[in-house]
Amino acid sequence: MSKNYRLAVLNGDGIGPEIVPASVKILDAAVAAVGAPAIDWETLPMGRAAIDEFGTAVPDQTLEGLNSADGWLLGPHDSAAYPEPHKSLLNPSGTIRKHFGLFANIRPAKAFIGGNAIVENTDLVIVRENTEGFYADRNTFRGTGEYMPTPDVAIAMGIITRAATTRIAHEAFKLAMTRDKRVTIVHKANVLKMTTGLFRDVCRDVAKEYPEVSVNDFHIDAVTVHLVRRADKFDVIVTENMFGDILSDLAGEVAGSLGIAPSINSSDTQAMAQASHGSAPDIAGKNIANPIGMILSSVMLLRWLGAKFSDADILAAADKAEAAVTLTVSQGTVTPDMGGSTGTAEFAEAVVANIANV
Ligand code: IPM
Ligand code: MG
Repeated sequence: MSKNYRLAVLNGDGIGPEIVPASVKILDAAVAAVGAPAIDWETLPMGRAAIDEFGTAVPDQTLEGLNSADGWLLGPHDSAAYPEPHKSLLNPSGTIRKHFGLFANIRPAKAFIGGNAIVENTDLVIVRENTEGFYADRNTFRGTGEYMPTPDVAIAMGIITRAATTRIAHEAFKLAMTRDKRVTIVHKANVLKMTTGLFRDVCRDVAKEYPEVSVNDFHIDAVTVHLVRRADKFDVIVTENMFGDILSDLAGEVAGSLGIAPSINSSDTQAMAQASHGSAPDIAGKNIANPIGMILSSVMLLRWLGAKFSDADILAAADKAEAAVTLTVSQGTVTPDMGGSTGTAEFAEAVVANIANV
């Protein structure tokens, strides 16, 4: 029996108010098509609009609403354009990930047929540690690991722990067991010997618990070269926070466009859908943004819920939504970043129409 899900929506800034509602429409259509109960949506304030109305980009009521939801869709934020003091604070997605301990950032890069990929047949997943590493703005419990002892000296602290690395490594190896059973560990252990060396070594220890999975490792600089030429040779990549952030932009573009790159951020109990890209303020409000990244992030959230609640209907809805996106792209109905001329809203309508055809 399918569950009646309550999902929260944070539209965010820039292209968020275009791509997030597009994703909601597609999820509604997919859920209706499989005969599952309609999703109850609750829109919560986040971003510039929340600053203007509540004096903070992530109000307490938003955190409370998210906590009681089954999951949520986070739109992008243009925090670089916020007025001070908000601009200098931890950005909304960092705040929300940290608040809920969403330690696993799962970022697939999968090329569509006819999807303008740089490396055709790319089908990999970056498993990014989301709570520590070299992102000093969020790797401490209180305060930040970045500080200025004098106006002319800035220091950032990198943190790698055995516990957080063990946790993310298990996510990567469990995921690899459902895929091609290959994991690549990405580090920079020739320079950051203790920190990323610990990351590599702990991942290799965890690997022993998954004897069917083959493992290799690369330095972060070397792996960029392989991704540009040979992204199709990778299955699962596990890495720390900053390397994962950078690599996932690269992998998304190699697979066709950063605009198609999805992700979820999850703990063992909660999950948040969030496209890998930013708020793209330069194209906001023009109806040209690619909503695929946000749509496929929402699909990943449905799959996470389907696994959590053993809900075959919601898994079927996720499959339908993804298949409809794939069909729409194969028909040449794509936004300008993928070489087409379809608008954001028109793309979403085409996907909704194609749900009946998949
Ligand atoms: C990401 C982003 C975020 C990060 C931004 C939006 C705060 O780059 O998740 O890809 O810094 O982690
Ligand atoms: Mg990023």
